[in-house]
Amino acid sequence: MATVLEKKKVTRPQVRQTQCFIGGKWIPAASGKTFETIHPATEEVIAEVAEGDKEDIDAAVEAAREQFDGGEWSKMDARDRGILMNKLADLIEQEADELAALETLDNGKPIRDARAADIPLVIDTLRYYAGWADKIQGHTIPVRGEYFTYTRREPVGVVGQIIPWNFPALMVAWKWGPALATGCTIVMKPAEQTPLTCLRMARLAQKAGIPDGVINVVPGYGPTAGAALVKHRGVDKIAFTGEGGTAKIIQREALETMKRCTFELGGKSPNIIFADADMEAAVEGAHFGLYFNQGQCCCAGSRLFVEERVHDEFVDRLKEKNRQRKIGDPFDPETEQGPQVDKAQFDKILKYIDIGKQEGAKLVTGGKRHGEEGYFIEPTLFTGVKDEMKIATDEIFGPVMSVLKFKNINEIADRANRTNYGLAAAVWTRDIAKAHKMAAKLRAGTVWVNCYDVFDAGAPFGGFKESGLGRELGEAGLANYTELKTVTVSLS
Ligand code: NAI
Ligand code: MG
Repeated sequence: MATVLEKKKVTRPQVRQTQCFIGGKWIPAASGKTFETIHPATEEVIAEVAEGDKEDIDAAVEAAREQFDGGEWSKMDARDRGILMNKLADLIEQEADELAALETLDNGKPIRDARAADIPLVIDTLRYYAGWADKIQGHTIPVRGEYFTYTRREPVGVVGQIIPWNFPALMVAWKWGPALATGCTIVMKPAEQTPLTCLRMARLAQKAGIPDGVINVVPGYGPTAGAALVKHRGVDKIAFTGEGGTAKIIQREALETMKRCTFELGGKSPNIIFADADMEAAVEGAHFGLYFNQGQCCCAGSRLFVEERVHDEFVDRLKEKNRQRKIGDPFDPETEQGPQVDKAQFDKILKYIDIGKQEGAKLVTGGKRHGEEGYFIEPTLFTGVKDEMKIATDEIFGPVMSVLKFKNINEIADRANRTNYGLAAAVWTRDIAKAHKMAAKLRAGTVWVNCYDVFDAGAPFGGFKESGLGRELGEAGLANYTELKTVTVSLS
């Protein structure tokens, strides 16, 4: 992320929205309950947020249902929907600094990342999908006989969207973009760790003129509010991003009402460095591909395969990069690494570091907490990692890199694919034939060649195997939000 950042002072953002947003109104949870959201760098409570549960979900689904079945949204000229989405993107752009600061406050991610990556990608995603609103088309089909047959792509209906905490605002845009473009209405449950930017964006959607009931947000916990959304008969589809185990619970529950489901889950993505790669770029890509966002990325390059011949030199360079990594106050524009999102994640990561040591991997850097306050963990590097070790098979979701050695191209594709995951992979080489061969062999939804974590709103993203179901972004992302209808007219 080579971005030149202005060194301007960041003012702490105000928390303005903490209630449920249902049918265009801000209301407390029916139970009156609230939960705390914290700043993970200091562990201080930053806001009390309405703790939605079944009753609030019921009200939100009712509002979304009413808007979908009888309201103006799905009947509006498609181009006008696009115009409203663009207005929302403009309002977000006007408040980009404040939203970035709010994201840093709630999630702990460095302000430089929130400013350079998260919020610009939010805006770009909404604009990309705004452009699709009036380009969702059916076909005419040459059937046998005197009939005229055509297809229509209609909105799937009320969609329940459940998102995680690692890219809170960006996940909102990935989910709202295609849902709004296709004319669906939304009930969103943001992650309990990070509800604030989602609520702020709902306020901006209202300001943009998106009709009441189109977007509803119910903050709360997964097994209560989330589960109620999944079970609700008034919901036509669930879109989920998070842990595979949660996805399996959701899919079982959703089966009862035959809800359409799409899942974007975790990974243990192989990042493969061949000896003929541009070493400077590959070291940078390996470091960024794992440590970006405190290692809390579904597509983190967490199995770093390095060809034997260059292994030792590569590890030395990685070590040096870790030594230089600036970890600390996420509001400091120089900071590259902030805290993990909460205590549960912090504890899980430290446990995996212990497991790595017990399994006999060699700890080269880090391995422990950084500082005494907040959930910071030192950039950690293990070498001598074997394929079957837990640190090479499990998603750690933290700043823990596992380096594995390989001999040659014949061996590596099989080893890279020996996992239940299949979200992303990367290959670093100067040999173009080798790059394309590997790209074809790797069982993953995205393969990066000589780059890592390059996202674009137009490029589909999602998992093979247990990393997901369906694709987000791009034209493919729209398919999740439409039903295909066939109309046949007799011409005789
Ligand atoms: P999670 O899957 O429990 O949470 C994600 C979302 O699902 C949250 O909004 C949560 O409230 C909701 N949820 C939880 N249980 C639910 C249920 N029974 N019904 C409906 N909704 C439910 O993930 P969590 O616990 O935050 O993180 C655990 C691990 O999952 C991480 O350590 C990481 O390995 C992985 N993860 C992967 C992500 C990805 O982007 N693929 C994002 C977040 C976590
Ligand atoms: Mg969980």
